[in-house]
Amino acid sequence: MSVSTTADLLAHGQRYYLPVYRPREVILERGQGARVWDSEGREYLDLSAGIAVCGLGHNDPDLVAALTEQAGKLWHTSNVFYSEPPLRLAEELVTASRFAERVFLCNSGAEANEAAIKLVRKWAASQGRAPDQRVIVTFRGSFHGRTLAAVTATAQPKYQEGYEPLPGGFRYVDFNDVTQLEIAMSCGDVAAVMLEPVQGEGGVMPAASGFLRAVRELCDHHGALLVLDEIQAGMGRTGTLFAHWQDGVVPDVVTLAKALGGGFPIGAMLAGPRVAQAMQFGAHGTTFGGNPLAAAVARVALRKLASPQIANNVARQSAALRKGLDAMNAELGLFSQVRGRGLMLGAVLDAKYAGRAGEVLDLAAAKGLLMLQAGPDVLRFVPSLNITDEEVGEGLSRLHAALRAFAKPG
Ligand SMILES: Cc1ncc(COP(=O)(O)O)c(C=O)c1O
Repeated sequence: MSVSTTADLLAHGQRYYLPVYRPREVILERGQGARVWDSEGREYLDLSAGIAVCGLGHNDPDLVAALTEQAGKLWHTSNVFYSEPPLRLAEELVTASRFAERVFLCNSGAEANEAAIKLVRKWAASQGRAPDQRVIVTFRGSFHGRTLAAVTATAQPKYQEGYEPLPGGFRYVDFNDVTQLEIAMSCGDVAAVMLEPVQGEGGVMPAASGFLRAVRELCDHHGALLVLDEIQAGMGRTGTLFAHWQDGVVPDVVTLAKALGGGFPIGAMLAGPRVAQAMQFGAHGTTFGGNPLAAAVARVALRKLASPQIANNVARQSAALRKGLDAMNAELGLFSQVRGRGLMLGAVLDAKYAGRAGEVLDLAAAKGLLMLQAGPDVLRFVPSLNITDEEVGEGLSRLHAALRAFAKPG
């Protein structure tokens, strides 16, 4: 593509998009594995994977085959008719989850969480609880999406400001603080506790060892549901298909999206035995949810992301990334901590570099590396889960060059 066309397209973004995003000034055209190319032919190593979405990298041949095969058959039916791919996917998700009985398919993470919030409220209503006895507790630093209910569940003021009045019935406590949770649940009006096993947008912050178990116990004690948002941490990213398997808890509800469709939009809410019947005919719905194209792709993504090869690769590349980050830190002293699980890692900038993660991202892009931040202080690494040794090595060497430039005095 000519430079003038690229510049013209970039101007379109400025001119026509609602200005809620500030994308990097590149037009990405194609991808293969963990690499992408822009309209000027520049190649980048991609450690962002479309914000933890492209779990199988770009242009995975099996996903392409599933999509194109389904595209030649049937695109859409709505939920007033059945089609095979979502029927199969629902069963496969139930089986894979080890806890769910039923599935609601939708189109995004926020929509999956919206469904979960509504499910909690319906379930509580069916228990005879008055509206003020249907409180949902969430955690500071969480991120649950941008619909009005999901943004209210998201206990971060920056996502809520200006959108008041927000829906009621949410209460916030500090993440990993069992005592605060005990106090928040002590009035007996809590219907559910909702959390991410690893907070993503909030800075790649894992639940402390034993925390999920303590939350489960408190939920059981107070007759509340445990809702896990695995939209970012699920689908193999932390080393197991579901992140909470590592915490030894059984949830009542789990939400998925992002990597479930490998890049094709789809979300899911999985409901366990206590709540699988809480929403009956007419209680909820969506036109596109469980679309045959999305479901056909998700079936393949689920099968591949659940494989031992992916789990082994996540462990291997997580260790390689951590080792590389530790080595760079030993040389440059930039991070106070590298944290996370599997291929969901965060390098926390030392206090003297606070607020400057965006600068690192700019320097990295100039060196041919696409990555993310999680807030102003954390570099976030969420590459594809089938990323190769060679791609991780290349990514680390480009990051090293960017970090050397960042640390250079003056
Ligand atoms: C944990 C978590 N929940 C929910 C969402 C919202 O998902 P979506 O952007 O698909 O609505 C996100 C998105 O980043 C997320 O990370």
